[in-house]
Amino acid sequence: MSKIIAVWGCPNSGKTTFAVKLALAIYERYKATVLMLSCDNFTPTLPFLFPNSKSEELFSVGVPLSKAEITQQEVIKSIVTLKGKPNLGFLGYMDGENKYTYPDYDETKALALLSVLKSLADYVIVDCTASLDNILSATAILESNAIIRLAAPTLKSISFFSSQIPLYADPKYRRNDHIVGLNVTEADCYMPIDEIKTHLKEVSFTLPYCREIRQQSIDGMLTKAVSDKKYSAKLKAIADRVV
Ligand SMILES: Nc1ncnc2c1ncn2[C@@H]1O[C@H](COP(=O)(O)OP(=O)(O)O)[C@@H](O)[C@H]1O
Ligand SMILES: [Mg+2]
Repeated sequence: MSKIIAVWGCPNSGKTTFAVKLALAIYERYKATVLMLSCDNFTPTLPFLFPNSKSEELFSVGVPLSKAEITQQEVIKSIVTLKGKPNLGFLGYMDGENKYTYPDYDETKALALLSVLKSLADYVIVDCTASLDNILSATAILESNAIIRLAAPTLKSISFFSSQIPLYADPKYRRNDHIVGLNVTEADCYMPIDEIKTHLKEVSFTLPYCREIRQQSIDGMLTKAVSDKKYSAKLKAIADRVV
């Protein structure tokens, strides 16, 4: 049975980075077919995950979502692949796209897309937007087998969750089942990690700051695996937990 793993959290908590690294880890560790879907049409993901690709090598997930019927063939056309990594693919929005680029779609369409992705892959990692007004993200949360909720050790993160968590009180969001992680995205100054953990109460893993990731994001190499031992060990443990 295929699984959907949703990654949700506050803006800038490292959701996209983590979703990519988790997809790579599951792909390598379990020799599984993995697709990563990024729902963000506010800051489209493909331009910074694949900055060196030619535009004809990139395809938008907005295209299948705008069809009257979502077919497997149409979805396959929107998968971006990496050389040397068969059975690993990425779907997302392209450079210059925004919420007006494609017609609106409803939950039925989002469900149809997720169902095709599940038919194609063992694991579908969904990089959800911070705001669940994004239908694809909200649907992925409802359909997922596991929800990883990322926080950053910042006051902004606390503000985000105290504002947004009450919106998802409906049991369908399975708030109490979320796997909460603290992602240390900054190392320049003192980060109140313990204070934030106390505040969020339910933190079950902490991803350490990783300089290599910072460099990869500058170089446009985020789709490369990380060799940093501490970060990789944490990532493997999380992969084992959700697989
Ligand atoms: N563990 C980490 N160590 C260092 N930098 C990180 C880590 N995780 C994420 N980042 C950096 O944090 C920033 C935000 O990450 P991103 O994945 O774009 O967040 P989001 O998708 O939540 O908005 C990026 O510059 C990314 O390189
Ligand atoms: Mg993102």
